[in-house]
Amino acid sequence: MEVASDLGETSIEAEIARETWITRLGFIFAVWGSMTGLGNVWNWPSKVSLLGGGPFVLIYLIMLALVGIPVVLTEFVLGSTFRRGFPSALKRIHPAGEFLGWFCMANSAVLEAFYVVLIGYAAVYAGFALTGLQLGGPMGAAYFTDQPEFFVNLLMSPLTLVGLIVVWIVVFAIDYFGTKGIERSVMIFFPLLWIIVIGMAIFGLTQPGAAAGINFYLNPQPNQFFETKMWSTAVSLSFFKLSAGMGILTAYASYLPRKGELTNSAVTTSLLDTTFAFTAGLAVFPIAATVGVLGDETVGSVGFAFVAWPGGMTMSGGNLLGFVFFLMIVFLGVTSAVSLLEAVVTAVMDKFGWPRSRTVIVMTIVMFLMGVPFTLWMAAPGAAATDVTWGLYLLDIFDYYVENFGLVLVTLFMMLITGWVWGGAKIIETANEAGDFELPSWYVWVIKVIAPIGIIAAFAFIVLSIFLEGLYLAGTVLDLIAPLVWVVICAGAAIALTMAKGVE
Ligand code: PFF
Repeated sequence: MEVASDLGETSIEAEIARETWITRLGFIFAVWGSMTGLGNVWNWPSKVSLLGGGPFVLIYLIMLALVGIPVVLTEFVLGSTFRRGFPSALKRIHPAGEFLGWFCMANSAVLEAFYVVLIGYAAVYAGFALTGLQLGGPMGAAYFTDQPEFFVNLLMSPLTLVGLIVVWIVVFAIDYFGTKGIERSVMIFFPLLWIIVIGMAIFGLTQPGAAAGINFYLNPQPNQFFETKMWSTAVSLSFFKLSAGMGILTAYASYLPRKGELTNSAVTTSLLDTTFAFTAGLAVFPIAATVGVLGDETVGSVGFAFVAWPGGMTMSGGNLLGFVFFLMIVFLGVTSAVSLLEAVVTAVMDKFGWPRSRTVIVMTIVMFLMGVPFTLWMAAPGAAATDVTWGLYLLDIFDYYVENFGLVLVTLFMMLITGWVWGGAKIIETANEAGDFELPSWYVWVIKVIAPIGIIAAFAFIVLSIFLEGLYLAGTVLDLIAPLVWVVICAGAAIALTMAKGVE
């Protein structure tokens, strides 16, 4: 019995009881749902436009092939081979792997905590667009169309907390039913989101600012092709976009039936995600140009999705378009947030043998509470102009460490442990067992050498820019405390959970 020898006698029962995706398409849609999130409408378009349009898209695709897709494939192989969440799967390769796994889960939990806050903003926007209500606050009575007044009024009100609660209820309700809940929801969200984004791109391209917007978005600046920043940004952006280094892809692949297809799935989902982001850009920039917010200084920050876009949408298309747009953001975010909750839930269930219902309830409460500080609506004195409240300030600073340090380092060590300790050849072998197409044997070097070098180079650039430009600075003492808090949370949780006694 192959299963018994792989996993040990004690795991056979768990093995038999493990949930699986109902269909292959369900798995692919679920992975796509995770990859395609808020990053597609805020990070991606703003990075593309800031970094030189067309050439950046090309660089992104190259780095996707050399680094992003190999990482996705490796995470898939981990999950499908060991049929366990991220920490337990890595532990089977090397005991130290479990520490890395839990470090990743803690980093992911912080990410989830503030990510749901952002989806909450979008939910509040959708509500105001639908009802046409006014939001009074420090900036005066703001209509939904008054930007950025509306955003500031929202940030400075407890509505941030209301949004957080509403979104958590939805995320909880889907994940409570495990892979079945996720699969059913993405079967609806997938077509719906594509219809919305294509509709918006058509709308954008028929607006008077279409030419200027597209020019701004994709205008090649060939001299930038050789700038290191473009290449390193492409790598770190691709990790966020592909949900890599979060333990999600491993958890999702652990629910595949034995010998599930992995290679084609990795390529298809990654490219579908990029296509969605690209299409979203075709909507954003023409609309931004039409209403005159192109090149706004908020481009590149959270404010891009909540100031430039909504202003543009509602001004050119009215409240209904604004509503549809924010509904899209909520759906995009929910499918990603569900996947991250599921990654943590899978990890905990596999280690401690808890039932799903209890695990989902406990982890939802934990991550909801972790998210509350990110909703704080009091003004943050001394913080940078864009970080109006304590909540947004904390969000920006933690986002910086989670993305630039957490995701990048977790992915690097995961690639090294899997490629070198376990064996790159095994990755290729596993992928080829049921792959729609065969990976050549030289691909092992992409996994063992090229991808890690790409990650190290990207990380070196991040560290270098800290030396050149300074740490994330908003001018308060928290600038120095936040990284410490982040390290203590991630390393502390990793030590405690690795040492805790589990069932395996
Ligand atoms: N791939 C997601 C995105 O681009 O928005 C990243 C993500 C963030 C996934 C947070 C899941 C999550 F909870």
